[in-house]
Parts: sequence; structure tokens; C-alpha cells
Amino acid sequence: MNIVSIVGARPQFVKLAPLDKKIRANGHRHTVIHTGQHYDYEMSESFFDELKIPKPDLNLQVGSGSHAQQTSDMLSRLGVALDSTDVDLVLVYGDTNSTLAGALAAIKLHIPIGHVEAGFRSGDISMPEEVNRILTDRVSQLLFAPTEDAVDNLVSEGISAERIFFVGNIMAESLLLNLNKAKKNMILSKLKLSTKAYGVLTVHRPENTDHRDRLTNIINGVIDAEMPFIFPLHPRTAKLLDQYGLMPKIAKSLIQPVSPMKYLEFMKVQSEARLILTDSGGIQEEAILLNVPCLTLRYNTEMILTLKLGANKLVGADAGVIKNSIREILEKPNPKFLRPDNWDKAVSARIMAAIDSNTELLEIKPLTVDLEKRTWEQ
Ligand code: UD1
Repeated sequence: MNIVSIVGARPQFVKLAPLDKKIRANGHRHTVIHTGQHYDYEMSESFFDELKIPKPDLNLQVGSGSHAQQTSDMLSRLGVALDSTDVDLVLVYGDTNSTLAGALAAIKLHIPIGHVEAGFRSGDISMPEEVNRILTDRVSQLLFAPTEDAVDNLVSEGISAERIFFVGNIMAESLLLNLNKAKKNMILSKLKLSTKAYGVLTVHRPENTDHRDRLTNIINGVIDAEMPFIFPLHPRTAKLLDQYGLMPKIAKSLIQPVSPMKYLEFMKVQSEARLILTDSGGIQEEAILLNVPCLTLRYNTEMILTLKLGANKLVGADAGVIKNSIREILEKPNPKFLRPDNWDKAVSARIMAAIDSNTELLEIKPLTVDLEKRTWEQ
């Protein structure tokens, strides 16, 4: 089979790494197309280097822009790239604009799609990622779900059960494969951090960064907690903190802003943290695996399982709630969380097995719609 993976943003490189190795080991051809959504060395190339992923076969270099512009640039360039070669299956990952553009480009050429991380839903259609998730799942032939909740979401949206595979979480596989190496990383002494005596803060979602009030509230809540925090800055966050005049206040506080970190460094910093404050999806997943309590700077999440297992709490962008929630965590001993089912080192193997044993599902057939039951089937 000729399998093409389409990636573009930081978390997708992490999800690609174990699957790339498995696809090649199973004797398939694997072509990797990078849309160029993330382009700084720290946001992109460093992940390929550390996770030993071969350089992308093609980089479309779309760069930044509005959602419409970024997605449409990707779509037109991917259309040309996919049309010029024989492709048996396109794999897309997660929920970014690169995911949606990859799925649209493929389905318009009648190329079957496998969606890695299918079925997550936050219920918030105002998030670009939620739109990307729903639309990508709707046109995919193979849906690789990370949790049983994700399977239920897909079934309730009318997607045929035979296309849904509960394979587990590929982020977890990457983490578990790299944890021992990460543990040896010397980043803590470089940053003068002591084990379990600091928190990790990350903010990058537009709903937080692009609103002065929300970003200010988050920073105030963290400063009021009077605990050291390491704060790797996404490029957009760095720009807006500067624009809102918040950097001098941060400089005088216990928050330590740093450039985006490499994967192994960040894994080490997360694993030794006392708690994590984030609006990222992937970091909520990594926190539970590392037994680090997570406070999520959002009012909803697609990682429902982490809430159910008591590893995560939604704190929004409310300074008082953030401060009090940090305090609550500090009053309790370090926790140990249950590891979600199938969040292990065999996720890529399950995905590969699902692909290899379900080739008949890759045929794109006309839809049969049962108007009485309001269900559809390919
Ligand atoms: C994207 C994903 C999000 C994912 C995140 C991981 C979408 C809709 N969102 O958000 O789901 O959690 O990636 O990081 O796709 N920039 C740089 N250098 C870079 C990359 C970005 O300076 O290497 C700046 C640009 O100014 C850009 C901004 O960061 O405007 C945001 O980048 P963008 O590609 O829009 O998405 P993310 O916010 O990173």
C-alpha cells in the first residue's frame, strides 16, 4: 500500500512518530507531507530530529494566516500533491487545520481517509478544532478512536460501527516510548527547577490569547498562587503578552517564561512537575499518564475521560478559581491516576492491524441513506 500521512502542527509530529515506524516495518510505502502550518525550528524540525522521523517528503510551506486562508492554501496545494501520485490511503491526525485540509483534499480525489484520534468532541462548535474534528470524522473511512467515549460520540453521530476502531491514544505511545530517555534529560538543572516544587503553564488557544482580559486573568491567578511556574511560550502567546504589556509583570513574578521546548525536555519538565495548567489538548492527556494533576484553562474539554478519572479540572480563565485550585492541589499528596484503557505502547500496532485487515472498507462507494431511520451507510 502507498500510505500518505499529512501533518503540519507540533502535536501531529508526536502522533506520527510511532505510526511512521510501524507502517514502514509492515512493508508499506509511507510518504509524509508537511503542510508547513508550524515552521519555526522549535515548533517543527526539532520534533522530527528527536523522534527520529525521516524528513517530510514534501513541505507545502503554507505558514500562518487566517483560518480560511491557511486552510484553503493547504487544500489547493494538497490537491495538487495527492493528484500527482497513486495513493491508497491518506492518514490525518488530530484536529488542526492541517487535518481538515488533508481530509478534504483526499475525499475530493476519492482517496480513502484514516483519522487518527477520531471521535473527540468538546461540544463547542466555536472552537476551530471542533469544526475540524466533526468534518474530518464525517468523511473518513477508518476512524481510530482513542477512548470509548470517542467511540460513543461517533456512533451517536450515525457513523457505522464497523468503521470505528478503539485503538487507544497514539500520544500515549509516543510518551511511553520516550519517557526513559526524557528522564535522563538535564533540563531541570538548567532551569534551576526542583522535582515536584514547580508547576508548568502553557497557553496558546486563541480564546485565551486573543482576549486581553482572559490572558490577564490567567496570569494574575498564577501569580497569586505564589508558586514557581515554568512557562514555555507558543509564538502567538509571546507576541500577545508583549502587546498587552504583561511581560514586565511576569518578569517580577515566580513565572519563568522560556522559548518553546523540545519534546524530550518538555516531557521531563512535565513529569517532574507538581501540577500542570494548560489549554492544550495533548498536555491534558500527557498529564494523566505522568500522574501530574492538570487544571485546564478552558470551560469545556474533549478529554472527558481525564475529568472522569479525577486527573483534570476545568478552571476557565478566572483568576480566583485558578489560584484556589492550585492551592487545593498543593494541599493533597502527589496522586496516582488510573491509566485509560489502550493508552499503551501498542496503539500504532492496532492501527496498522485495522488498516491491513479492513482494506474492503477503503473503497469509496455511493451513500445509501435510510430516510426512515435517518442513518447512512457507505
Ligand atoms: C494549532 C492547532 C491546535 C494545536 C496547536 C498546537 C489549528 C486550528 N490549531 O494551533 O489545535 O493545539 O496547533 O501548537 O490548527 N507561529 C509561529 N511559528 C510557528 C508556528 C506558528 O510563529 O512555527 C505563530 C504564527 O504567528 C501563527 C500562530 O503562531 O499565526 C498560530 O499558529 P497556527 O498555525 O494558527 O495554530 P496554533 O495556534 O499553533
